[in-house]
Amino acid sequence: MMHRILILTAVVLVQTLLPARGADVYEQPPISYSDSSPVNRVSQLQAAIERKELSLQYDPRFGYLPDLLNRLEIGPSTQLLVFSKTSMQRDRISPRTPRALYFNDDSYVGYCHGGDVLEIATADPALGAVFYTLEQEQNDHPVITRQTHKCLQCHGATQTDDIPGFLVRSLFVGSSGLPILSEGSHRVDHTTPIKDRWGGWYVSGKLGSQSHLGNFVIRDRDAPKPWANPPGQDASDLSERIAVRNYLTPHSDVVALMVFEHQTLVHNLIVKANFTARQALHYEAGLNEALGNPSDERLASTTRRIANAGEDLLQGIFLSDEAAIVEPIKGEPEFAETFVSHGPHDRQGRSLRELDVGRRLFKYPCSFLIYSEAFDALPEEMTRYLRKRIPEILEGRGGEHFAHLSRVDRQAISEILRETKPKLWPHGE
Ligand code: HEC
Repeated sequence: MMHRILILTAVVLVQTLLPARGADVYEQPPISYSDSSPVNRVSQLQAAIERKELSLQYDPRFGYLPDLLNRLEIGPSTQLLVFSKTSMQRDRISPRTPRALYFNDDSYVGYCHGGDVLEIATADPALGAVFYTLEQEQNDHPVITRQTHKCLQCHGATQTDDIPGFLVRSLFVGSSGLPILSEGSHRVDHTTPIKDRWGGWYVSGKLGSQSHLGNFVIRDRDAPKPWANPPGQDASDLSERIAVRNYLTPHSDVVALMVFEHQTLVHNLIVKANFTARQALHYEAGLNEALGNPSDERLASTTRRIANAGEDLLQGIFLSDEAAIVEPIKGEPEFAETFVSHGPHDRQGRSLRELDVGRRLFKYPCSFLIYSEAFDALPEEMTRYLRKRIPEILEGRGGEHFAHLSRVDRQAISEILRETKPKLWPHGE
């Protein structure tokens, strides 16, 4: 009898401690997303403006956009144009008036011509995607405001696997900009086949005969299906479709789009790896305490959860299942040159940022986000797991998900990382 009561008590305890399901798990400890103070590039700018150490310059045509990009070190050549009414300022967005996005390794800015606010999202090392707005009305003291639920309804629910994350979609869009959702939609990342990408986006650059859904507006809903672009979609300048003077550049560069799609995926996987490890350890600590176990007793479920999230992240980092590119893809030289110039480079001048786009996105299939602050801020247990696996993967013992890495790839990546990220190895710095 006593034995049964004990078991029942343990079951009840476990149930109360079990991680809740659904979108608001990240609002509970140990993450406490909305209640925590973010520390990232945007929060630092926000604080400097509040302390009146600096202000932002207002431009008559673009408002605070150019100076905000400048302060966040985001180049205009990263401009991407999306014309589907899929985001917050939907009334401003249409095929004639697309929304522009700009990005660097950690931050993204959204701009609608004539829009009320600039939308900002950044990869916060502890909290995942953190969101802000900046009013576009001229003001002596422009203010950057952190936003939570307003943005999380889309950026922190099922579409982002219930983490605060980044979104990229491809869908069929009518001439008003409204998506035709009955025709389905795709989440887009580097694994999405080119033929399914860019519905609702403008794409400039050269793709040869490869078909895709970019620049495609459904003007006749009764047109025979499957809906697809006519061949030869190459467009370098979008001036026939939009008033280019309302944007910082006339492009929506195909290579920038591909880097963005890779980057948003890896950012989200880093958030998942971070939260999963912290949540698993939090749960374990609570359970050990409730059951009177030693505080360092490791649960099998903790080890498993860390390994699963770690493997997903590694597959993102090493571009497992990357979509095939059958003909070289070319964008504007400016994006590619600026992107590569950020390095780091090894002594032979090699960099993980080198773009290939002949048969795959990067010359060396290992993400440059391995250098990011969010990667370095992963919990120790997760970092330990990754440090064990990365050398295994680079020695060819990674398993089937890493079989796409040739011996030459593995050797080059290994050499580059040993010089540019030595702490990944046991005896590194
Ligand atoms: C109605 C859903 C929705 C809401 C609400 C929303 N977004 Fe988004 N956001 C999207 C979608 C979808 C994308 C992908 C690009 C697109 O379709 O425009 C996106 C993309 C972005 C991007 C580019 C990075 C990325 O994730 O692709 C930024 C920056 C951004 N949103 C900021 C914000 C901010 C800031 C808020 C809140 C003030 C917000 N968004 C609210 C749907 C939304």
